[in-house]
Amino acid sequence: MTSERVRLYRRLPATADAAWWVKLAAHAPDGRVLYVGCGTGRLAVAMAREAELVAVDADPAMLAAFRDRLADDPLAARIRLVEAAAEDLELGERFGLVVLPSSLLNGMLEPAARAAAVRRAARHCAPDGAVVLQLLNPYWMACDDPSASGRLEPTDGGPAVGVTIEPLGFEPWEQRLQARIRYRFGDGEQLVDELDAVALYPRELRALIHQAGLEITDTYGPDPGASELGRSGGTWHVVARHRAA
Ligand SMILES: C[S@@+](CC[C@H](N)C(=O)[O-])C[C@H]1O[C@@H](n2cnc3c(N)ncnc32)[C@H](O)[C@@H]1O
Repeated sequence: MTSERVRLYRRLPATADAAWWVKLAAHAPDGRVLYVGCGTGRLAVAMAREAELVAVDADPAMLAAFRDRLADDPLAARIRLVEAAAEDLELGERFGLVVLPSSLLNGMLEPAARAAAVRRAARHCAPDGAVVLQLLNPYWMACDDPSASGRLEPTDGGPAVGVTIEPLGFEPWEQRLQARIRYRFGDGEQLVDELDAVALYPRELRALIHQAGLEITDTYGPDPGASELGRSGGTWHVVARHRAA
């Protein structure tokens, strides 16, 4: 992981959609959350106010930045950091809520790795729990012009962050979008992230989730909990639960 990416995720603020994830954490039936792909803890810390959290990431540099964020924070007592890949995760524990935000699955380019990650998520989910995924909207990824620009409005009232998506190309056979994402912070700093992601259409998603012993119970568009899943908007949110035997 480049140090620029770590710096970017240290700086990115929590935005309005964080409220939905925090609410999910507050309703975890056993008060325990497994967060896969936690990065530097941008969203995870807010969730840990509502539940005990195990936060997993494959990148030691991201976890080191998360550890720094927690220094002198009493919430550190409620958060356990684990270095592991989603597709290999084996904690031997179950959680009332397992989350894979930030289009984690889209960034896993190998189908076998995606399938393993969903199976591992299911295996760590308590019988009455839920697995919740945030995904990139495949119809947006494949549209003629996925370029976009907008602003992230921090929930803490801090200055907005400008975001520009510059597509580099969509490869239709691999269903793969590459793009450059530029972030402009209020103090003038500009940071760039690279997107390299596979579009996952509902049929494939359903199959992935079914093969893991789960079924989809709720779907939402970019505004989780409110907007419907559709062709517009950049992200989808999917809630899955264990299938009845
Ligand atoms: C885009 S960042 C988002 C971080 C965090 N969810 C947030 O919203 O700030 C994605 C994170 O997922 C991690 N990641 C990517 N692939 C992973 C995998 N296969 N297993 C575990 N972590 C992974 C990356 O290291 C990175 O920290």
